[in-house]
Amino acid sequence: MSAKGKNKAKAFATLPNAVPTSSTKIHEGALDNSNYVLAQMKNGKWEKAKIIECRLSKDYDPKQKKVDSSYEYYVHYEFYNRRMDEWVGRERLQLTEDPIIEDTQPKKRPRPSDKREVTAENDEHEGMDQQSLITHEMHTKFKTIEKIEFGQYRCDTWYYSPFPSGYHNIDCLLICEFCLSFYIRKSELQRHQLKCVLCKLGHPPGDEMYRDTERRLSMFEIDGHKNPTYCENLCYIAKLFLDHKNLYYDVEPFLFFVLTEYNETGFHIVGYFSKEKESSQGWNLSCILTFPFHQRKGYGKFLISMSYQLSLIEGKYGTPERPLSDLGRESYLSWWTQSIIDYLKKNKDGEITIAGLTKETGIKDTDAWWTLEQKHLIKYQQSQPLICMDMAYLDLIYSKAGRPGLPVKKDCIHWVPYKRPKGQDKN
Ligand code: ACO
Ligand code: ZN
Repeated sequence: MSAKGKNKAKAFATLPNAVPTSSTKIHEGALDNSNYVLAQMKNGKWEKAKIIECRLSKDYDPKQKKVDSSYEYYVHYEFYNRRMDEWVGRERLQLTEDPIIEDTQPKKRPRPSDKREVTAENDEHEGMDQQSLITHEMHTKFKTIEKIEFGQYRCDTWYYSPFPSGYHNIDCLLICEFCLSFYIRKSELQRHQLKCVLCKLGHPPGDEMYRDTERRLSMFEIDGHKNPTYCENLCYIAKLFLDHKNLYYDVEPFLFFVLTEYNETGFHIVGYFSKEKESSQGWNLSCILTFPFHQRKGYGKFLISMSYQLSLIEGKYGTPERPLSDLGRESYLSWWTQSIIDYLKKNKDGEITIAGLTKETGIKDTDAWWTLEQKHLIKYQQSQPLICMDMAYLDLIYSKAGRPGLPVKKDCIHWVPYKRPKGQDKN
């Protein structure tokens, strides 16, 4: 089933009834949730965690008395992002005497790669006060879909997504990889695939606007106005991996750029970014996602590069919509760092200015200043900014920022900026 014609849930809608909402304390025999526990993560490590909820385990025998091991517990690992939250059995929990004292201060999240805290700027909670953060976390505290299956891939989901009612509390959501319709039963998906037009074509809807025959990469531009069902489905699915992003049900104002790997069996989606057709705030990208089974292969940086290439074609500079997620921040910081260093090295014998950098890369001046500061590439002498031009140091910072990512080949782009058709109103 696709989102079309279904009850469209609001972003961060109230949880469906089937999700347990009461406190664990009223569950007979269950573990008390007022102390921290040690919970064993999938990698075997024991970490400090909070019990958020419990439910009777699938193999509980109703004739038996309810004890702590009759339940499964939904835990949040204290020093980890919410995407690691999960249901665990009693055997993966150890009790501690460390009471939970609710913190009223805004929380800072650890970075993805280590436990150092992020700075306030470009934080994933930017623009959210403590109350809205609490409300958001309460309304989205459970993942109601545990896994998705997508073509040949299957992966765990990370966050709550307000799929239409009827699509919650399921182990694995089955998705048609070409049209993104979703199903609970394999037989339904198979029936759909027999008549799915996009399955027959073997590619997403929209216009192909990039093809790299060497790397076998292709990108499609999909207009939210022309293909609303595909774009809504993409938003629902993307929300499973994005925490602090509102879902836009009105997809009309957006273009979606879907990146695919192609082979003899078709064009297989690896990720996408969305972009407002007309952004009054200068955003050149709204949401970006690489599906988990394709992450850390350079596609994120490819998508970021493409968003800047499109800005340059439009004759603009741009910046991604805030807030950035923790992974979004890492990826942007890494891409900005490497693009700035490329610019500095290329122009080392000429004039170096932020305006010049913006013109060449499309990076907005505030993002450039922020990156230079984060990477200690700038110092001030009598209020005069001085940019580091020590080539050895630049090389070191460049390599520490990770791999360069997959390149966007400019001559493979076939794209003209969006022009609103006459008579079509801006929403
Ligand atoms: N831990 C540490 N560093 C990371 C991680 C991670 N898990 N993921 C990315 N990075 C950093 C690294 O520096 C990495 O380079 P490296 O692999 O050479 O070390 C760099 O970011 C980018 O790596 P890519 O392979 O190019 O990026 P990827 O394809 O993995 O996609 C993305 C990055 C899109 C952010 C992905 O993690 C994702 O989809 N996350 C879930 C959705 C999300 O958070 N989107 C951003 C929201 S903000 C916004 O939409 C404006
Ligand atoms: Zn389909």
